[in-house]
Amino acid sequence: MDKFVIRGGNPLRGTIRVSGAKNSALPCMAAAILTEEDVTLENIPQVRDIETERKLLASMGASVQLGSGGSAHRTTISCRSLSDPVAKYEIVKTMRASSLVLGPLVARAGIARVAMPGGCAIGGRPIDLHIKGLEQMGATIQQAHGYLEARASKLKGAHLVFDKITVTGTEDLLMAAVLAEGETVMENCAREPEVTDLAALLTAMGAKIDGAGTSTIRVQGVSSLHGARYRIHPDRIEAGTFLVAGAITAGDLTVADCNPQHLRAVIAKLEETGAQIDFPGPDAVRIRSNGKLRAADISTEEYPGFPTDMQAQYMALATQAEGVSVVKENIFENRFMHVQELVRMGANIKLDGRTAAVRGPAKLSAAAVMCSDLRASASLVLAALVADGESILDRVYHMDRGYERIEEKLRGVGAEIQRIGNLFAPRADEVVTDS
Ligand code: UD1
Repeated sequence: MDKFVIRGGNPLRGTIRVSGAKNSALPCMAAAILTEEDVTLENIPQVRDIETERKLLASMGASVQLGSGGSAHRTTISCRSLSDPVAKYEIVKTMRASSLVLGPLVARAGIARVAMPGGCAIGGRPIDLHIKGLEQMGATIQQAHGYLEARASKLKGAHLVFDKITVTGTEDLLMAAVLAEGETVMENCAREPEVTDLAALLTAMGAKIDGAGTSTIRVQGVSSLHGARYRIHPDRIEAGTFLVAGAITAGDLTVADCNPQHLRAVIAKLEETGAQIDFPGPDAVRIRSNGKLRAADISTEEYPGFPTDMQAQYMALATQAEGVSVVKENIFENRFMHVQELVRMGANIKLDGRTAAVRGPAKLSAAAVMCSDLRASASLVLAALVADGESILDRVYHMDRGYERIEEKLRGVGAEIQRIGNLFAPRADEVVTDS
C-alpha cells in the first residue's frame, strides 16, 4: 500500500504547474458516448479516476486510446459501437462520477443500466435529481438488483427545475438534452466552470446550448453530434491546493497553468488571512507569505462561492492562523474526516455538526496519519509540510484519484516528500469516496 513520507518545515519556492481538471475530464469523456465519431481530449490529467472512466467506457464497447510520451495527456475515444451500455457495480463503487454516463447512454443507445452508488465517506450521494430529470424527458426508470435501468426510444425536451444545485446532475441532464427532441430549459443549474467546460465540448460537437455557466441553460436538441477535439481547462482545486501550500509553508510560490478567474473565492480568502497575491501572467498566481496568518471564516457554497473541495485544505491552513477560524460545510453532511487526523497532529479543532472552530496557531507535530478521502488527503499533506518532523501518510491511493504525481510537483518546489510503494498498484479494499 502506497504511503507518503513527508518531512515538514521547508518553505516552498518556485513555480508549480497545474494539470487539467479531473472534474471536467470525467464528464467530457462521458460526452464521447453521444457520437459515433472520435472525440479527442487534450490536457487530460493522469489520475486514477480517469483510468477508472477509461475502464468504464471500454467495458461498454468503446475504444479509448491514451497518448504516450509527449502526448501522454491526450485521449481519443471512439464510441462507434456501444455493445454493452452498462456501468457495472465493480466500477461505480470506486468512482461515484460513473453516474455521469446515465444521461448520454439513454440519449444515444435508448437504454442504460447503471449500478446505484451507495453511501460514501463524505455523506449520502443520491442521484435522485438525475433520475427525476430523465423521467421528465420521457425515460422510464426501474430499479432492481442494485441497478437502475433507464429506457427511452427518444428523449423529449422538457422544462427542468433542479430542487437542489447539483454539478454532475446538471452535466448528466445536459448531455441527455443535447440529443433530445425539441427544447430543454434547465433552471437552478450548477454554474461551476466544469459545466461550462463540458458545454464548450458539446458545442464543438454540434450541440446547441445557451447559458452554460449561468443558472438557466437552454438546449435545442439536435439529431446527431459529430466528433471534436477539445482542451480541458486547468484544475482549480489542484491550483487552490498549491496556493494553500505556498501560504502554509511561508513560501513564495507561483502556481502556473491555472485560470485565476476560477479561483476568486479562494484567493479572496487567502488574502484575508494575510497572504500576498500577485498575478505574474494571465494564467498564473503568485502567493507569498511571511508565516504570520490571521484567522478567517469560510462557508462552503456552490460556485462562485468557496468550494467544498477546498474546505479540508483551508482547514489545514487555519490551524496556522492567529485566532479562531469558523469553517462551515454546507454541501456535504459529513465532510470532516480530516479533522481527527489534524487533531492527532496537534491541531485545536472543535466540531459541532456542520461547523468546525479552528484555533490557531497550533504547533503541528509529525505523526502517522490515515487518508480517508481525496481532499482530506490533500489537507494532511499540507499539514505535514509544516509539521515538526517526519509524517507518514497511509492510503495515498485516495490522493492519486485526483492529484497527478503530487509528490513530484511538490518536490520540485522544495518539499521533502517521498512515495513508498507502487503508483497505481491495484487495491483490494478500495472504498468509495468523494470525487
Ligand atoms: C461534484 C464534484 C465534487 C464536488 C461536488 C460539489 C465531480 C465529479 N465531483 O460532485 O468534487 O465536491 O460536485 O461541488 O464533478 N444531491 C442530491 N441529489 C442528486 C444529486 C446531488 O440530493 O441527485 C446533493 C448531494 O447529496 C450534495 C449536493 O446535492 O449534498 C451537491 O452534490 P453534487 O453537486 O451533485 O455533487 P457531485 O456532482 O456528486
